[in-house]
Amino acid sequence: MERVYITTPLYYVNAEPHLGHTYTTVVADTLKRYFQAIGYEAFLLTGTDEHGDKIAQAAAANGSSPKEYADRISDLFRSTWDQCGIVYDHFIRTSDRYHQEYVQKILQKIYDAGEIYFGEYGGFYCYGCERFYTEKELVDGKCPDHQTTPDYISEKNYFFRMSKYQERLIEEIQQKANLIRPERYRTEVLAFLREPLEDLCISRPTSRLKWGIPLPFDANYVTYVWFDALLNYVSALHHRGGSSLQTLWPKAQHLIAKDILKPHAIYWPTMLMAAGLPLYDHVNVHGYWVMDSGKMSKSLGNVIRPLEMKARFGMDAFRYFLLREMAFGQDAKFSEEALITRVNADLANNLGNLVSRVLAMQQKYFAGVVQPLASEWAREDLELNAKFAQAETELNVFMAELQFHRALESVWSALDHANRYIVHTAPFTLIKDPAKQARVGEVLHHLLEAVRTLARLLAPFMPDTARELSALLALSDNALKKPWGQGFAAGHTVQAPKVLFPRIETDAKK
Ligand code: MSP
Repeated sequence: MERVYITTPLYYVNAEPHLGHTYTTVVADTLKRYFQAIGYEAFLLTGTDEHGDKIAQAAAANGSSPKEYADRISDLFRSTWDQCGIVYDHFIRTSDRYHQEYVQKILQKIYDAGEIYFGEYGGFYCYGCERFYTEKELVDGKCPDHQTTPDYISEKNYFFRMSKYQERLIEEIQQKANLIRPERYRTEVLAFLREPLEDLCISRPTSRLKWGIPLPFDANYVTYVWFDALLNYVSALHHRGGSSLQTLWPKAQHLIAKDILKPHAIYWPTMLMAAGLPLYDHVNVHGYWVMDSGKMSKSLGNVIRPLEMKARFGMDAFRYFLLREMAFGQDAKFSEEALITRVNADLANNLGNLVSRVLAMQQKYFAGVVQPLASEWAREDLELNAKFAQAETELNVFMAELQFHRALESVWSALDHANRYIVHTAPFTLIKDPAKQARVGEVLHHLLEAVRTLARLLAPFMPDTARELSALLALSDNALKKPWGQGFAAGHTVQAPKVLFPRIETDAKK
């Protein structure tokens, strides 16, 4: 059986789940469901990143101990994903004992191999980024990301000989064109690697920071938070035991946004090389969601919370918008207006109307009983079938390239076709002629096949809707997989329609 191992970043526990975290997690969930649907064994890992200065400071500001604080926010992430219907297989916390032990094991291994040394380092330290900056990297003396003035810190620390792996890393990236994708991020990493790579400072003295994993070879230091957190992707599989590490690890697909490209495309592969582990299969990098008002931030009061979106619009509508609106790899704008427009046009009008019209006619004309198909299908019936087959083929191509918005576009193009097929075949007119009853039965049967195909194709993107469609068609998951024309046994009865996506009135927005 083919396998895939999908990961999200481990989210810092200094912020509550928001739109950005939700997007990556929804993409991971969609991919997992898609891979399962095409017969893969798929494993999805998510969790929280809990050590380091940033968390220690947030906990102190909150008047709690780092552990208490991390427990609370980590639980919040987990329960948010549960309520959003995310089907993760394991939730890892970097404070989990097994993870800490694994990090120490790898550190010791790399240390024993001579890949870690003790040295002195001075640099501008940004707590927001949890890293040192060189003077050249600062913009007007400030961190380019956080716009804060970093502290100059000079101290003795442990360093990982990252520079040693520069050539091998370049070779790996050049040999495997889609190790880092989309292409623009691969290009960015290769451009960065044209400059000499520095060694990586992987410790923090306990005199300055206690909230971290102690170095196994020097109790006066804790592990640098990135060195700790990146290892989660492997420690989780190691913890799972059995052959997970051997079978799943080489099939790893990381999902991240562009903000954490460098740790995932440079630190992490060189760490894997030093630890004697194979590289991941892909790191998939997406862009940023930005608000009309600019960056999403607490101070601007424009933070989008997933559970609020779910309560107001429904989780599937929110998922649909996220997956349809952002071209994976590029930035996208988030606005409620755009979400409402999409929900009304694509879900309420297009999808919702198709389903309710077909089921209403089936009910009215045949009391819900599916009528037989003719042995020879009319040209327009064959075309409808072909259009959905084409959508499925395209969807598979786009999913392999993480082009979720284009996969959905293909499905909606088939949906448009189905709505035109109703207008063109006009069952509501034909039914008035008793001699045309059988033809109306066929037309509706083909339309029910279209709805059945939609239930199958949309399941990874909109799982609740797919379940509702199956329930309306009174079909099991297995029946969804059958070829066109074979989905409904003789005498099968479908349900009366219901409103899947109510139109959102703009003045009722708030
Ligand atoms: N803890 C590190 C990751 C360690 S992974 C071993 C971290 N955490 S984070 O909480 O800051 O999460 C960053 C990730 O959240 C991004 O890479 C992305 O997946 C998601 N997003 C946060 N804000 C985002 C947007 N505005 N837009 C899109 N996704 C963004 O970095």
